[in-house]
Amino acid sequence: MENERKKRILSGIQPSGSFTLGNYIGAVRNWAKLQNEFESLYMVADLHALTVRQVPAELRARSREAAAMILAAGIDPKESILFLQSHVPAHTQLSWILCCNAQFGELSRMTQFKDKSAKHPDNVNGGLFTYPALMAADILVYNADLVPVGQDQTQHLELARTVANRFNNLYSLTFTLPEGYITKEGAKIMSLTDPSRKMSKSDPNPNSFILMNDDRDTIIRKCKRAVTDSDGAVRFDMAEKPGISNLMCIYNVFTKKSMEEIAQEFAGQGYSEFKLAVGETVADALSPIHSEYTRILADKTYIDEILRDGAEKASRLANRMLSKVYRKVGLYQL
Ligand code: TYM
Repeated sequence: MENERKKRILSGIQPSGSFTLGNYIGAVRNWAKLQNEFESLYMVADLHALTVRQVPAELRARSREAAAMILAAGIDPKESILFLQSHVPAHTQLSWILCCNAQFGELSRMTQFKDKSAKHPDNVNGGLFTYPALMAADILVYNADLVPVGQDQTQHLELARTVANRFNNLYSLTFTLPEGYITKEGAKIMSLTDPSRKMSKSDPNPNSFILMNDDRDTIIRKCKRAVTDSDGAVRFDMAEKPGISNLMCIYNVFTKKSMEEIAQEFAGQGYSEFKLAVGETVADALSPIHSEYTRILADKTYIDEILRDGAEKASRLANRMLSKVYRKVGLYQL
């Protein structure tokens, strides 16, 4: 049918340093897989990064690095629209309207707000509090159907749906209610040193995470040192054996072997053989991405061209939605 459009995807990642293996497995890997099937928009969430203090020159450099990494991970600029959040002002414009439709209580309940406030007690700023309204705007300004993210973003996504629904009830149907695309495998990759916590680049212990930019030896060393248990059997049991189960999840993502097959493969062997295999598998998978990243990052003109083109295309879509919303809420238009 003529006006039957492909379903639309929007997702984003903050440019807060190199991506972790968690970012890749939980999100970016899926972006590449979904881009042919859906109309896809992917962005570097540079405005979100400002909710914690940044060194300006570093933020600038990291934003370009993030774009290069997204491209290296397989996002094809001919298939997907790639842009920086700050290059499409409609996001911040819509976020104000959504802020006025998000309740103080709802925003107060966000666990990320509570965690980050506890981590940075000297900088509990308004942006940190209203962050989910900006994230909702990122999604709703494109009427995205699907949002591929890791598990830690589900609460924010739920808030986006709540606000969209409230707006639709108040002002008539405007926004699509977005669905999360959260894979069963790898939605929450855990820290290598404390498998009760999420793998995160803000962890002060660098052995707790694998970075997309880590070299082969570092990746293998970090896997070898991963905290496990003393049971000695490679068996999937998230509650009793979280360290081993986390490594099995990682191994499963790259080898496509089921948990039973992995258990079978390492039956009768010690953890060290298994950890080495995980390290080598991850290093093998990341190595071509790393080379591609280095190649792309060296070409600033190429990256800037893609981002300029992406911002133009995204702005065209977003501005249409924004003026519809402005009209609905009663802002006087010329
Ligand atoms: P960010 O930058 O913290 O993370 C980017 C993506 O990586 C996923 N992720 C993980 N997945 C599995 N295991 C982990 N250990 C892990 N760590 C991170 C996150 O779930 C996320 O999908 N607020 C977002 C960025 C954002 C956004 C958006 C996302 C801004 N606007 C609109 C979707 C739609 C964030 O800070 O992600």
